[in-house]
Amino acid sequence: MTSTMLPPESTTTPAPAPAPAVAAAPLPAILGTYKRQAPLFVRGDGVYMIDDTGTRYLDFVAGIAVTSLGHNDPGVNAAVQEALATGLIHTSNLYRTAPGEALAQWLVDHSFANSVFFANSGAEANEGAFKFARRWARSTGHPAKHEIVALRGSFHGRMPGTLAATDRPAYRLPFRPLMGGVTIVERDLDELRTVLDPETAAAVIVEPIQGEGGVRVLDPEFLRGLRALTRERNVLLILDEIQCGLGRTGSFFAYQQLGFAPDMLTIAKPLANGLPIGAILVNEQVARVMQPGDHGTTFGGGPLLAHVAHHVVQRLSDPALLAHVRETGAWFGQQLQGIADRTGTVRAIRGTGLMWGMDVHEPAAAIIGRAFAHGLLLVSAGEHTLRFLPPLVITKAELAQGLDMLETALRG
Ligand SMILES: Cc1ncc(COP(=O)(O)O)c(C=O)c1O
Repeated sequence: MTSTMLPPESTTTPAPAPAPAVAAAPLPAILGTYKRQAPLFVRGDGVYMIDDTGTRYLDFVAGIAVTSLGHNDPGVNAAVQEALATGLIHTSNLYRTAPGEALAQWLVDHSFANSVFFANSGAEANEGAFKFARRWARSTGHPAKHEIVALRGSFHGRMPGTLAATDRPAYRLPFRPLMGGVTIVERDLDELRTVLDPETAAAVIVEPIQGEGGVRVLDPEFLRGLRALTRERNVLLILDEIQCGLGRTGSFFAYQQLGFAPDMLTIAKPLANGLPIGAILVNEQVARVMQPGDHGTTFGGGPLLAHVAHHVVQRLSDPALLAHVRETGAWFGQQLQGIADRTGTVRAIRGTGLMWGMDVHEPAAAIIGRAFAHGLLLVSAGEHTLRFLPPLVITKAELAQGLDMLETALRG
């Protein structure tokens, strides 16, 4: 798998940063891996976050596609209370619990999957899926089959394996060497045809809509071709629906709009509306090879998380909510286009459901700062792309309010 791989990254080790000449600034108690906005958020209320001065911010970020049911949702709060009332927050995976079994059964009943593994985050779900792919390959008599193939523009997480499958140099370069056996290729079927060797490739992982990579809706024809190709080459197809799944595109799973099922599917972000839980959904061929001891987690799918997630998935799969996402999402896209036409500040708009990206001429950070000053929370997806991921329960009136603030911010 060498001929069509992307050009190799430089292998020279970056020089250590020079020692600061002046006294170092005091260190924040929370490690400085994020540039955080200044206000101290103390409360949530539906589609608003409220700071310690009482200022309300309209939330078009939803904790990066997490709080799909909004903040302080009575149903979610009641589910937390019910779970707490049992007195059983955690048991470990050495024991059975009713909430964990009920959630797994619900996911099996509402998807292609035969079994579910619960993890604690998106990256962890993907890391697990990579292991499962290798386990499957070895167990089915292919000792050299280990390669994980990801696509140009992908984001699958920040852990060793998922970072190797993430196409963002700034995230990757300081941490080389990355996990071996992971290759990133162009989003192109001819390229994949050359790369996917049945003897060495175990799985392809793909986000049906690349979120961090700029909200790129992958062509359904390409994805269907990829499904056919992976079958033909005896390679597993993993769909990463961590950002685009669970209602965001107007169907419960994004793959349900594509007309095929993957072999594995990963979900996380909105699964418990803000409590940390992820999951790997697997089909029969993967489920049959996994044995006790092959994978594990202390916290994954604990009873409190699972009970809340069971409530959340029932809400997010409600046909009325999904219709609302499709309808308001299409309207929102039209409004973004209107803003682009009126302001001349926009290069392109992409998206579906309530997941949209807007390429802007200015650095996205400058617009996000101005929107923030007007009371609107936005997030970027790359240096020149604004990303819109509002709670799925947001109304058209609330979206319109945010669009006004966005237009003002774009005008400078
Ligand atoms: C598509 C996708 N996969 C994986 C991840 C990683 O999830 P987490 O941050 O929960 O580890 C993300 C997070 O943004 C994501 O968008």
